[in-house]
Amino acid sequence: MKTEKTILITGGAGFIGSHVVRRFVNKYPQYTIVNGDKLTYAGNLENLTDIESAPNYVFEKIDIVDKNAVTGLFIKYNFDGVIHLAAESHVDRSISAPDDFVFTNIIGTVNLLNASLHIWKENKEGKKFYHISTDEVFGSLGKEGKFTETTAYDPRSPYSASKASSDHLVRAYGHTFGIPVVVSNCSNNYGPNQFPEKLIPLAINNIKNNKPIPVYGKGENIRDWLYVGDHVEAIDLIFHMGKPGETYNIGGNNEWKNIDLIKLLCRIMDKKLGRPEGTSEKLITYVKDRPGHDLRYAIDSSKLQKELGWKPIPDFAAGLELTVDWYLSNTLWLERVISGEYEKYYENMYAGR
Ligand code: NAD
Ligand code: TYD
Repeated sequence: MKTEKTILITGGAGFIGSHVVRRFVNKYPQYTIVNGDKLTYAGNLENLTDIESAPNYVFEKIDIVDKNAVTGLFIKYNFDGVIHLAAESHVDRSISAPDDFVFTNIIGTVNLLNASLHIWKENKEGKKFYHISTDEVFGSLGKEGKFTETTAYDPRSPYSASKASSDHLVRAYGHTFGIPVVVSNCSNNYGPNQFPEKLIPLAINNIKNNKPIPVYGKGENIRDWLYVGDHVEAIDLIFHMGKPGETYNIGGNNEWKNIDLIKLLCRIMDKKLGRPEGTSEKLITYVKDRPGHDLRYAIDSSKLQKELGWKPIPDFAAGLELTVDWYLSNTLWLERVISGEYEKYYENMYAGR
């Protein structure tokens, strides 16, 4: 049965993507949601067990770098919209192995754009290609100021350079070929289901296991943290109401020095684990800095707030507590991610299909 819209969400088995998939599957039963994901180390279908049997949900294992596979997928489903999250996303990995970032983030995005152009050539009415990007494309701020939608790009890691390149290509396809494209650039996300190599889940896991918390350099770097649910809310609004050709910045107005954030997390963990205050802070260990480590990111999201009425949750400690509670009560998820067991889920679930 043809539903009102068929939407491709790429990277839907990842951290942010899985929250987007869940929201769209539950909130829009009139849409068919196709989750297209390669299932790299960062893709985990166990993030989506609660909706995997929903009648409006389909999973397709696909590598967006494979041009023929992408074209075939678009012909099979004749998508009305694309929400593109699939990416190599970890800065540290982009320093140790940049090539995958170029393939997935740049070539993969071009493949999706070409396939969209192919199926929307005759009629672009009501179609949308929504590209999810990062504030890291703007480079690093000094003590003052925030990134706006018109800040010049100045990417400084292989990750941010590959995302910047994909942003430019998306806008160029909008301008040159008339594809209705929208881009959003978001600050650092945190929340349930984040892969435990990123700062917050890594620290939670290490504190739980009494292991050192590695803080790069002096811990002076500043990030603007946003709860993943707020990002997903913004993605829903922008997908439905964002104007073609526009860019929206998304951020929490919530800047934290890494060391202050870690100390707050330590206090929350002491409380949750029933340890005397100050126990977890003793695990803080300063380690060698990341090469080219951007000092500060901060987002001005007033355009999104004014034009589309979006607002993030104001209380960071509350968001962090929710996150800590999730990790402490989903120990099996965490153990299976750390042991690599989660990678077998696809074979077991989809064998013979
Ligand atoms: P993630 O690494 O958790 O998930 C990425 C997903 O993409 C995984 O499921 C992975 O399997 C899939 N993928 C990777 N390569 C693929 C390929 N070649 N073909 C198909 N699928 C592939 O990432 P995330 O943190 O959820 O980020 C999602 C998007 O949001 C990314 O585009 C990222 O740049 C952007 N973003 C992330 C943050 C953040 O703080 N995490 C902030 C701003 C923007
Ligand atoms: P990360 O979660 O990797 O996100 P990004 O690099 O995209 O901002 O890192 C967040 C910040 O925390 C960043 O300034 C690097 C720092 N960091 C540490 O100090 N220790 C760690 O173990 C990690 C993973 C990150």
